[in-house]
Amino acid sequence: MLRRPRRNRRSAAIRGLVTETHLTPHHLVQPIFLLDGKKIREEVSSLPGTYRLSIDQVLPEVEACLNLGITSFIMFPAVPDDRKNKTGTYGYHADNFYLKAATEIKKRFPECCLISDVAMDPYSSDGHDGLVSGGRILNDETLPILGKMSIAQAEAGFDILGPSDMMDGRIGYMRETLDEKGFTETGIMAYTAKYASAFYGPFRDALDSAPREDEDIPKDKKTYQMNPANQREALIEAELDTAEGADFLMVKPALNYLDVIALLKQNSELPIAAYHVSGECAMLLAASRNGWLDYEKAMPETLLSIHRAGADVIITYFARDYAEMYRKGRI
Ligand code: PBG
Repeated sequence: MLRRPRRNRRSAAIRGLVTETHLTPHHLVQPIFLLDGKKIREEVSSLPGTYRLSIDQVLPEVEACLNLGITSFIMFPAVPDDRKNKTGTYGYHADNFYLKAATEIKKRFPECCLISDVAMDPYSSDGHDGLVSGGRILNDETLPILGKMSIAQAEAGFDILGPSDMMDGRIGYMRETLDEKGFTETGIMAYTAKYASAFYGPFRDALDSAPREDEDIPKDKKTYQMNPANQREALIEAELDTAEGADFLMVKPALNYLDVIALLKQNSELPIAAYHVSGECAMLLAASRNGWLDYEKAMPETLLSIHRAGADVIITYFARDYAEMYRKGRI
């Protein structure tokens, strides 16, 4: 045998030389679920280890992450029902606790990168990302609402806006609206290929944001989120988001869609982000807690695979755990 691939796997030193992919905490984004109030720390029952936090609890969390080398955070609001309505007006209300929290975080930690969520569902009494009327999701009527949310978030100090709603044309609409108001430096991380996935369950539990059960309200998000059967369609979304001014393209979820991550990486010069979503993290946690998987081995392997597929940026509920292991030299 002339070729023996095992020669390059003989020792840790040689394996180190030929390692193709490295994942450092700088690539990771830590999600934060924010609640209004003080001294609140509620564990999300379907996602153990992840909490819904009030702002006083978020600040030390951000500080701890920064000390571990995680510099980016994506924040989602858990909004009480009495502040939700059909048009999601609380999303850009001057009193919005989410916007105030962003300002506070950026004031305390100006060096961090804060990413927002642009979508109606945290604020919509119908539990949809767009405006619901006559049993349908209205695309063009949703855009001005997303535009108002975008301006309010840019004013609050978010560095990058994350439209997770999947309405057509929203990247261009947001870009123009932001530029008109002078927010030319506020970035957009487009949820480019966001699939109508079964893996968002714990997130919807955390925000209480599932579509409301009513015969006039679509029961799922299939008319705007992508069909899990489709790969090439992601190229259409990528082309549009790029032309409309996106700064990042995102694929979501991550693990079941590694082929889509690789496809966008090969077809775009923009940085590619992947959202390792709540249900994907919950699966791994459940198996680990049952003693069926070794968390300290399975978790880093999982994140590495997302990076290897082509994701420059990974949003994951395991960001802090990964950074802690990394700091201790266990990765
Ligand atoms: C909705 C939104 C969802 C997630 C992020 N933004 C859920 C949905 O589309 O219903 C899910 C993230 C996760 O599961 O971790 N705008």
